[in-house]
Amino acid sequence: MTAVKSRPSPAQKSLTFDPPRAAEANGKATANGRAQPENLNGNGAIDHHADGGGKNRRRATAESMATKQRDISVSEFFAKNRHLLGFDNPRKALLTTVKEAVDNSLDACEEAGIVPEIWVVVESTGNNRFKVSVQDNGPGIVKKQIPLIFGKLLYGSKFHRLRMSRGQQGIGISAAGMYGMLTTGKPVKIISKLSPKKPAHYFELQIDTKHNQPEIVNGKGEGVDLSAKSFHDDLKKYEIDWESHYRTDEGKEPQEVKSGTRVTIELEGRFIRGRGSVDEYLEQTAIANPHVTLHYRDPEGNESSYQRSTTQLPPEPKEIKPHPYGVELGRLVTMLKDTNAGTMSAFLTESFSRVSSAVARKICEEAKITTRSNPRRIGRQEADSLYQAIQNTRISSPATDCLVPIGEQLILKGLAHVVPGEFYCAATRPPAVYRGNPFLIEVGLAYGGVSQAQKVSLETLTEMLGESDARTLRQFLMNSFDGLGSEAADKILTEAKMGTRQSPGRLKKDEIAQLHAAMKNVNLSEGQSMQVFRYANRVPLQFQPAACAITQSVLGNNWRSYGLSQSRGNLPQGPVTVMVHMASVWVPFTSESKEAIAGYPEIQKELRLALQGVGRKLGMYLNRRQKVKQEGERRSVFLRYLGEVAGAVGVIQDLEDKKVESLYEKLLHVAKRKTAEADTKLDDRGKKIAEADEEFGENVLIVEQPEIKQI
Ligand SMILES: Nc1ncnc2c1ncn2[C@@H]1O[C@H](COP(=O)(O)OP(=O)(O)OP(=O)(O)O)[C@@H](O)[C@H]1O
Ligand SMILES: [Mg+2]
Repeated sequence: MTAVKSRPSPAQKSLTFDPPRAAEANGKATANGRAQPENLNGNGAIDHHADGGGKNRRRATAESMATKQRDISVSEFFAKNRHLLGFDNPRKALLTTVKEAVDNSLDACEEAGIVPEIWVVVESTGNNRFKVSVQDNGPGIVKKQIPLIFGKLLYGSKFHRLRMSRGQQGIGISAAGMYGMLTTGKPVKIISKLSPKKPAHYFELQIDTKHNQPEIVNGKGEGVDLSAKSFHDDLKKYEIDWESHYRTDEGKEPQEVKSGTRVTIELEGRFIRGRGSVDEYLEQTAIANPHVTLHYRDPEGNESSYQRSTTQLPPEPKEIKPHPYGVELGRLVTMLKDTNAGTMSAFLTESFSRVSSAVARKICEEAKITTRSNPRRIGRQEADSLYQAIQNTRISSPATDCLVPIGEQLILKGLAHVVPGEFYCAATRPPAVYRGNPFLIEVGLAYGGVSQAQKVSLETLTEMLGESDARTLRQFLMNSFDGLGSEAADKILTEAKMGTRQSPGRLKKDEIAQLHAAMKNVNLSEGQSMQVFRYANRVPLQFQPAACAITQSVLGNNWRSYGLSQSRGNLPQGPVTVMVHMASVWVPFTSESKEAIAGYPEIQKELRLALQGVGRKLGMYLNRRQKVKQEGERRSVFLRYLGEVAGAVGVIQDLEDKKVESLYEKLLHVAKRKTAEADTKLDDRGKKIAEADEEFGENVLIVEQPEIKQI
């Protein structure tokens, strides 16, 4: 018998109907040869209450279904959908954990006006298990809040405000803790200290996923306090790691770390170097946060530090209220219900930015509501007219002083610090607005320099090969190094005399050395493709590039007009690195894992304009460099023959040596004049020194390279 339910939508069809052949076998054949399912009743109508297989037994009733309908706790939901939070594979899980903790630390330090210093330790604790510890010198967290912050999903201080910060959802660190607990059974450990005089608090926590509530597992369910006096002894007693002093130069008295938070999460993970790694995240964080010092110990015990290049904190971003244009009807209704304001006029002016009492009056007039009416008594219909009235009233654009860009100078500095190159430029766009939220885009570009693949040491390459999960060497090269495309990978493998399909994990020592030498020797500048660093509120985005509006805009830009080669739909070729930063009071991520930015048209437009800005400057530089190079080559050709020509003329005309020499000098003078472009000197802004009119404009940095030196 075939179960025929109500007529399915096309999408449901394949799910609810048996495949045609099975239907034929089950149904009765009709005169026209088509199968007719049995529970079409005589007049061809569908019996909507047909049973589900057994005799007169219904599959489920509303009542039986009701017994199964119940709340889903947010922790249960995300434990099942951990990929939504960036925990879809062990490699990403490790990185996401570090990232969530570091982002929180940076937010907390900046909010408290403390120049951030952060210690990151990743230790291996056995088969695919790692212990991640992140400590900051931030303000610390008060005792009562610690369990809620680390043991309850969707709990935080940033969701309900419009202020530029790295975190916004209140889910990051508790999700990392939950993932750790689910994969290793180990609790999250937190120690937090508010000042040297106050006791520090130490908690070991688990999440009760059923109820989305924290469970404190140490100190008889209450955590433990470490008194200021016996702090260091207590640290030893409870086996808690804590960086108690800043590192300083030898001979200097180390200063005490007065406050801060350290979180330790043990989790199942995979430690891999190269693209999408913890190393890469920290390096990129250093580019966009020049005021941060980061200390990092990796699972092999290697220690590295990124020192801050400025002690000046970025200006504090202002918190703003939502702009009326960006508020949807549903939200407006909730706001009306929740407000404490006594009148509509007060509600509008207090809840929104850019609404003065005059504007509030206009809105109310348009909506035919009196300004004195009680907002909590506004009905559905009136809310609807209020919403329409807002759209029809002229309200000035949101204030944009809530945005703090990195700034062109610091972008140049940061890029030059980490990406070697010969030409750098940056552009910060003026603020714009999407859905009522202010945002701005800034772009930095670096050209020239060696690729990551050429910088890697033999030891690191050996480690990377051992850890890689790529199936072929070609795939390994392309996955591990930014900007290394298939063409460059093939070049390296041909030079190393290796097959493209060889497995990276099986290489012998001498083969690795051979590969390493090939990576150094091959000229990768042609095979290289553009590297794109994406940032949102100073946080590097390392995954889902294809889904991100930034990558889409980079791909959509016509880089050929700026002197780079690019095939349609691909990243341009060449030793170019582009960093794009979006700063906003609310970054529209495509998912909770905060990996890609959604492509609102206003954002796409700003991205396009910013990329065109730096592209034009690159075009000017490449064009000029090309000219200088061509003229230099022309001159060297002239020079090669001038001696010959002068000599030959001397022989023909029977001239004395002196005259031949003076003839040579004259010819040389002409050659120099003809190829004057080769003498063009560029100053450190890339301006022609003799010609001030043809400017690159501000915010360009040119590092002289040996290969473009003139003769
Ligand atoms: N190291 C820290 N120092 C001080 N406060 C912290 C620290 N880490 C977290 N917090 C507080 O805990 C809250 C919750 O952090 P969590 O990472 O879960 O969410 P979030 O940062 O608000 O948003 P997101 O989910 O986008 O990261 C933060 O809003 C902040 O108030
Ligand atoms: Mg966070």
